[in-house]
Amino acid sequence: DAEKVAALLGTHIAEYPDFPEPGVLFRDITPLLRDATALRTVIKHWVSMLPEDIEYIVGTEARGFVLGAPLAYELGAGFVPVRKAGKLPGNPASLRYDLEYGSAEVQIQQGALPEGARTLVVDDLLATGGTAAATVELTRTFGVELLGASFLIELEGLQGRDRLPDVPITTVWSIP
Ligand code: PRP
Ligand code: ADE
Repeated sequence: DAEKVAALLGTHIAEYPDFPEPGVLFRDITPLLRDATALRTVIKHWVSMLPEDIEYIVGTEARGFVLGAPLAYELGAGFVPVRKAGKLPGNPASLRYDLEYGSAEVQIQQGALPEGARTLVVDDLLATGGTAAATVELTRTFGVELLGASFLIELEGLQGRDRLPDVPITTVWSIP
């Protein structure tokens, strides 16, 4: 249940002050990933929170891959990667964006999603929302049915939701 999972995340997400730059409190999911029981418990709970009949999970490099792929597998959905620039072949579409620390460019492959497909965007963490907004914008160019965006962790203080005003958002663990 939700409380048990929140407690699990409290003990399996490490905090690193001033990483990767001064003023950022970095939330590290690797303790969760290396604990087999915790990882499975969290993925199963997360799946239970998601909308019905998801056809595609769109996950953002790199941590959105690690969590998005097991969600897709568990749901019986396909997985579509949004990657940092320069990694995807075939003249992909690009978008530059800012995140809590710095800026980046993400890409999605041509023809990655069929029109009307029931699609959910997934990432490990919602901070300022820059990454998620860019991923959603690229995803929407295909004319999919965007069911929402879902995150393991939401840093509420950074108000990332405000960057996704018309996207239903689910988060497993919201940190005030
Ligand atoms: C992190 C995180 C999210 C993003 C959130 O990714 O995994 O994708 O930042 O920040 P935002 O809400 O302020 O945009 P990062 O770019 O560090 O890449 P990584 O997954 O490759 O570590
Ligand atoms: N991505 C953006 N902000 C982050 C944070 N504080 N911890 C981990 N990943 C992040």
